[in-house]
Amino acid sequence: MKTTFQKLLFYTSFLICFTVLAQKKSERELILIDKDWRFSFGHLYDTKKDFGHAEGYFSYLTKTGFGDGPAAKDFDDRAWRKLDLPHDWAVEQPFSESASFSHGFKAAGKNYPEKSIGWYRKKITIPNEDLGRIISLKFDGVFRNSKVFFNGFYLGTHESGYNGFEYDVTAYVNYGGENTIVVRVDASMEEGWFYEGAGIYRHVYLQKTNPIHVVANGTYVTSELKNNDADVIAAVTIENKGNFKGAIEITQTVFDSNNKQVALGSENVLAPEFYQKANYSSKLYIKKPLLWDLDSPNLYHLQTQIKQDGKVIDNYETSFGIRSIELNPEKGFFLNGKQVKLKGTNNHQDHAGIGTAVPDEIQYYRIKKLKEMGSNAYRCSHHPPTPELLDACDKLGMLVIDETRLMGINDYHLNDLQQMMERDRNHPSIFCWSVGNEEWQIEGGITGERITQVMQHFAKSIDPTRPVTVGISSGFKSGISSVVEIMGYNYLGNGDIDAHRNQFKNQPGMGTEEGSTFATRGIYFTDDVKHYQSAYDKKPRPTFYSIEEGWKFYAERPYLAGMFIWTGFDYRGEPTPYGWPSVTSYFGMMDVCGFPKDNVFYLKSWWGKEPVLHLLPHWNWSGKEGQEIDVWAYSNCDEVELFLNKKSLGKKKMELNGHLEWKVKYVAGTLEAIGYKNGKKVLMEIQKTTGNPEAVKLSLDKENQPNSKVSVITVEVTDKKGLHVPTADNEITFDIKGGKILGVGNGNPTSLENDQFIDDLEMVSIMNLQEQKGNTTDLSLKSNYNENEWITAFKDRNYKNQAPSYIYKGNFELKSVSDKNQVHFFYKKIGIAAEVYINGNKINPSAEDLQKYVLDAKILKQGNNSIYIITTPLQKIKDWDVMNTDPGIIQVITPAESWKRKLFNGYAQIIIQKDENAKEVVLSASAKGLRAGSFKN
Ligand code: GAL
Repeated sequence: MKTTFQKLLFYTSFLICFTVLAQKKSERELILIDKDWRFSFGHLYDTKKDFGHAEGYFSYLTKTGFGDGPAAKDFDDRAWRKLDLPHDWAVEQPFSESASFSHGFKAAGKNYPEKSIGWYRKKITIPNEDLGRIISLKFDGVFRNSKVFFNGFYLGTHESGYNGFEYDVTAYVNYGGENTIVVRVDASMEEGWFYEGAGIYRHVYLQKTNPIHVVANGTYVTSELKNNDADVIAAVTIENKGNFKGAIEITQTVFDSNNKQVALGSENVLAPEFYQKANYSSKLYIKKPLLWDLDSPNLYHLQTQIKQDGKVIDNYETSFGIRSIELNPEKGFFLNGKQVKLKGTNNHQDHAGIGTAVPDEIQYYRIKKLKEMGSNAYRCSHHPPTPELLDACDKLGMLVIDETRLMGINDYHLNDLQQMMERDRNHPSIFCWSVGNEEWQIEGGITGERITQVMQHFAKSIDPTRPVTVGISSGFKSGISSVVEIMGYNYLGNGDIDAHRNQFKNQPGMGTEEGSTFATRGIYFTDDVKHYQSAYDKKPRPTFYSIEEGWKFYAERPYLAGMFIWTGFDYRGEPTPYGWPSVTSYFGMMDVCGFPKDNVFYLKSWWGKEPVLHLLPHWNWSGKEGQEIDVWAYSNCDEVELFLNKKSLGKKKMELNGHLEWKVKYVAGTLEAIGYKNGKKVLMEIQKTTGNPEAVKLSLDKENQPNSKVSVITVEVTDKKGLHVPTADNEITFDIKGGKILGVGNGNPTSLENDQFIDDLEMVSIMNLQEQKGNTTDLSLKSNYNENEWITAFKDRNYKNQAPSYIYKGNFELKSVSDKNQVHFFYKKIGIAAEVYINGNKINPSAEDLQKYVLDAKILKQGNNSIYIITTPLQKIKDWDVMNTDPGIIQVITPAESWKRKLFNGYAQIIIQKDENAKEVVLSASAKGLRAGSFKN
């Protein structure tokens, strides 16, 4: 029995909850709608294979709401694959030599018309209570050239594969019922010369706001530090998509990271007119703010509220940070008044196993890996990143150059630049905009100069607080170089940097690209047959420099703000210096998984703050006994002494930004290094010859986000003493409970193994549909019909005078029949009542869907199968009614084989995601002849 007090408490909490909910309804809602999409490939130019889309007499461009084929609201997508976003269909495909070098030889996109168009469909319910609100769809990024439809209405085309976009669908909503979102993605063209994925690879949201609301990316927070205090200007753009006229109140409140209010501004203004926008700004004052810095990335958030008659009608949150930046032509880069050398990397956006469909957690993982290497800056080369990458940089303390895709002065170029800047300009991590990279056709001449001047001025009109750069690879004197605000040098070998600087003394500069070295993780002898590049840091090509040469150059010149290595991580595509069957780049300091190549330890020594001692190579060189092996030490100790099996091979002095080398005749055992600082032993590092692999080991990578649903697991094998075996290449098979596997990788640029193991889904059409009239309404196959009287189905049908029943006969081809496959017939109504016979067997509809038939392997045959559908006919109500003549589709699901991957030089990586409601996820890993391993989370 509840006491009166308990009851009272219950009702009061219920009331509070209800009020909060009711209040929330009137405010903005941003609902992630990544789950439960349907997907199917269409076709680039064969409209039949593109489900007849845009074939209609009236197309979606002729009459509004006439989206046809899959764009139609009621298109039957039951047989399509179910998936959750983010999704990259390119990474799911096999590799092929005839596929694109730039896109990592994945058999999709360019050259693959049947794998270049992807259709996505999703149904959502929008309740009646939302009537009066502005309903929009928000896409963070689709690769590429997407057309979006809502309930059959065409919303627009968005070409860029990198910028986000929004569509207002308010007028087309079916309130209180089902609504259909359809996206047609055309990934047939490439925007870059690197892997770009294919599909809806970033988040999608449904957004609901009041007609008076802050527009998309509608706030701009800037701050100015005065002594230790900050003036914060919070500018906001508000739009009125309703008929309200009169006063509104705009309240802007700043909270610190503990949610404590630190500043508040409020003003009463007149609401903008119908469909008009207006800008407002509040000047706020924050006493002694905690600055955003690399080691303490303090963030604030601005809450912008619009009130009407005292009631909050919109609530818009903006995360920002307070810091000062300066790029000085003499002294380089300053953050909060302190000189900071930029220790940067360039990166594209794909990761092992998952391509560009990167979960938010992996953004953090990657930025943490770069920070761990000592890096403090990231160049988004050569395109705008996903918003979560910038969030990770804000939260973890990583400076960013944000870069637009293509140079030019037209809407195509400037709109993209504007969209990127308006979306990103509140991120404290961004210190510089880049408006282009290596535009070979124009960079050295007058056209480059003109374009840069326009883009630079345009950028300043959107954000005057950050400078603009361009990555330039030739003509470090003329063209873009002579006008760009911050000179972006791409490679020492491309020109005389000191000479340029002497000519342009007032122009700050940085190395936007340096390095471009080749290395295969765990490989110490170059082997051009196997496409292996040794991991010792060597000059890669005559006009390129090693990482050490590059860093020494930049470290020695205070006027250069720093450098960005090409690249932090390996990426798919650009497998220079090789081609097929190499499918990923060799440039990374880390491989595609984030496993470090040895260069990481060079950088950690001179970029990081921790003491470092690293020895290369490993010491498993059976067969090379007596031969000389190059042994290198990366360290920031003063001296390093090397021992082989306890015998000293000499102590050497470390030069600033250098490394140490020994030649060592191989004998199995222990290679040991001792690092000294001020004459004292501070570090020890060992490379031991190991035994054969004995056991599989799974462990959580330490850069994982704590308690997250997505985990990056390191896979390795150990010998009988538990030592990691650095040469192991065992194939590991995985099994998971309580979650799913998102992707597998191993960092081997020549691995053509699957990145993903996904059930194969085939849609088999019913061919040669023929009919004959039935005399009665008896629908059994036994009723009289004449095998010789078939005519083409629905041909010349007189709908005013139909037979009591019709018998339809068709056939379908099955490549194979197996108990393991699931075969379904998704029937589409071609009659009122229907009976279905497959190869003479009557089939009953499934309980969950009366138009779905589960076909047992026992009644199916490899090759040709017959289908009979006996129906009473559909009747036209109006003469112009269009009757369905498509009987439906057969869906064959062939389950994927088990997930597996070979280790490459001792390591593989598997990315897993825990199920929403699972208490625990358990991953097991086995390999032939080895003790199995498991991982629980
Ligand atoms: C640069 C270019 C990069 C990448 C790199 C490979 O010229 O800017 O995107 O292609 O070369 O060496």
